[in-house]
Amino acid sequence: MQLSFVWRYTMANTKRWCWYIPIVSLICTVIWYSYTMESTSRNRVAITALKPRVIDDTKQNVVAILSKQNVVPTVSKLEKKNEKYLVYLCDEKRDCGGWGDRQRGIVSLFLLSLVWKRTFKILISSPCDIKPYYTPTKEYNWIFTDDELKGLKDQKTKTLDFVGVDEPLMNMNMNSSEIADVLYIKTNCVNFLIIALKYANFLPVYLRKKGRASIFRESWNRFMIPTDKLLSQVVKIDSRGEINSDAKKLGKELVCAHLRIGHSKYLPNDYVGFPLVAVPKVWNFIDDNFHKKSRIFVATDNLDVRKSAISKYGRRYIGSYAYTMNPDNMRSNLTLACSSQESAYVDQLMLSKCDVLIFYRRSGFSIHASYLKTEWTNIYSILRNGSSTFSLQKTNIY
Ligand SMILES: *[C@@H]1O[C@H](CO)[C@@H](O)[C@H](O)[C@H]1NC(C)=O
Ligand SMILES: *[C@@H]1O[C@H](CO)[C@@H](O)[C@H](O)[C@H]1NC(C)=O
Ligand SMILES: *[C@@H]1O[C@H](CO)[C@@H](O)[C@H](O)[C@H]1NC(C)=O
Repeated sequence: MQLSFVWRYTMANTKRWCWYIPIVSLICTVIWYSYTMESTSRNRVAITALKPRVIDDTKQNVVAILSKQNVVPTVSKLEKKNEKYLVYLCDEKRDCGGWGDRQRGIVSLFLLSLVWKRTFKILISSPCDIKPYYTPTKEYNWIFTDDELKGLKDQKTKTLDFVGVDEPLMNMNMNSSEIADVLYIKTNCVNFLIIALKYANFLPVYLRKKGRASIFRESWNRFMIPTDKLLSQVVKIDSRGEINSDAKKLGKELVCAHLRIGHSKYLPNDYVGFPLVAVPKVWNFIDDNFHKKSRIFVATDNLDVRKSAISKYGRRYIGSYAYTMNPDNMRSNLTLACSSQESAYVDQLMLSKCDVLIFYRRSGFSIHASYLKTEWTNIYSILRNGSSTFSLQKTNIY
């Protein structure tokens, strides 16, 4: 099943009132929803303090991850003897950040794989395998095939850690086979736009002279396809509530927001995001600008925001009910961590399907939702600009 819209209008007509899901007062920590801010002035954890470093491969557990992969069998007629690989790596050895960080790293390495002429692969095993949720395309099969895995034995490998450090990565030339046949890189690289500009000549036409949003979306959709398992959850959420035909005619039937509050009683160590006290003003904005019977979806890292949205909108509120937490910190409870990871995939995909999207300008998770939005219209960005105030603007992305 490809990204398709048919489901929205078919499924949604069946009224379902099973929307009420009890809210457990347990909230673990955020941050699948943007672990670091999408901004040069990141203040999140010590990520900026990290230096790039080469990890001694003897201590890496890459083989264990490889063996965990469910290998997709493909027919490879030519055995590619001298194939070189560039692998986006997120294992349990070090932090990789939230979904926003990971997406940036993946897109950056995708671009660099074109520059360095290496076959692009993705290994995300922490906290849980990504493969049940995203699947590759034929053009870019980022899962190691059986044949490739066989060929990997005895290959020279190297693992580089560039989490929180952009610059050297982009200026390196990893072309030489001397460097390594299999190059594993951990990164949450922010500057994929700069990579695309600097190496425009190495990139296909669809990635040349494009803005940040286009580069992200064109790359992402070329190799990351949500699986039926993931899409079916999005369909389920979208089938909640009642679709008002007038709202639908206006093209603003489903209004969505991602409110990243950050630091709060739930997340004492997080950065300061959108001011909680200003949340009712977002509801006012929605009331004043969109149809009174539009459905509402709010992804948030703060339970109070969710409670407020539910009490305000009642049955118009269709979600989210996801629990969110820090993927790197939840490795001790895999059940929890995996369901949180799943929720992040579901919520972001849901946000990208909305008619109207209000996103937080300092969250990678949020920004990428806007990049992936099916139509680049009715997009609004919000940003805290005082202890109880925010700016909100209609945004054109390209
Ligand atoms: C990498 O190698 C390819 C093939 O030899 C070459 O076309 C390309 O210019 C090289 N890239 C860089 C960044 O040097
Ligand atoms: C992990 O989290 C789940 C879901 O909240 C919970 O039911 C389970 O008891 C937890 N396991 C451990 C070992 O803490
Ligand atoms: C915050 O943004 C709003 C809307 O743009 C503006 O009216 C207000 O003056 C700003 N406040 C501060 C402290 O900059």
